[in-house]
Amino acid sequence: MRRYIFLFLALVLSSILILQSCKKEEEVGNGSDMTMDNSGSDTIACSTITYDAHISTIFNKNCGGCHVTGSQGGVNFNNYAKLKNQLEVGKVLGVINHRPGFKVMPTSGIKLSQSVLDSIDCWVSNGYKEN
Ligand code: HEC
Repeated sequence: MRRYIFLFLALVLSSILILQSCKKEEEVGNGSDMTMDNSGSDTIACSTITYDAHISTIFNKNCGGCHVTGSQGGVNFNNYAKLKNQLEVGKVLGVINHRPGFKVMPTSGIKLSQSVLDSIDCWVSNGYKEN
């Protein structure tokens, strides 16, 4: 009997965990919940943006299959140091902002939302905080 109760509890716990992780993904979306326009209570102050809390999610979500788990075009940024380096060499901001003379990323041609682009700019100009 004890064993069944234990199994049952384990089952309930794991379903809660699974539900929670789905919920988290939904909330994160394409990172566009990070508004920088001071209009909502969830506005994130520029100086509090970090790689661990925000930036890694944005890049994983929008560039991940090709540049985090993959290295398309020879470009990979699967950790903080690599992403920082990719930004410093200068092409990342060009490609995501669709600046003239740069390739367009993501390759779908759908630009990241302005609030996400602003968040990235802000994080860069604040010195790439890791956490
Ligand atoms: C569906 C796959 C895919 C996605 C998603 C994608 N890329 Fe790329 N990326 C590529 C490929 C393929 C190349 C090489 C293109 C080429 O050489 O013409 C590339 C090249 C690049 C380059 C190098 C450009 C250059 O001029 O050498 C950068 C920087 C880059 N991607 C950044 C990003 C960023 C940042 C994102 C997310 C916002 C992203 N990519 C999303 C496939 C992707």
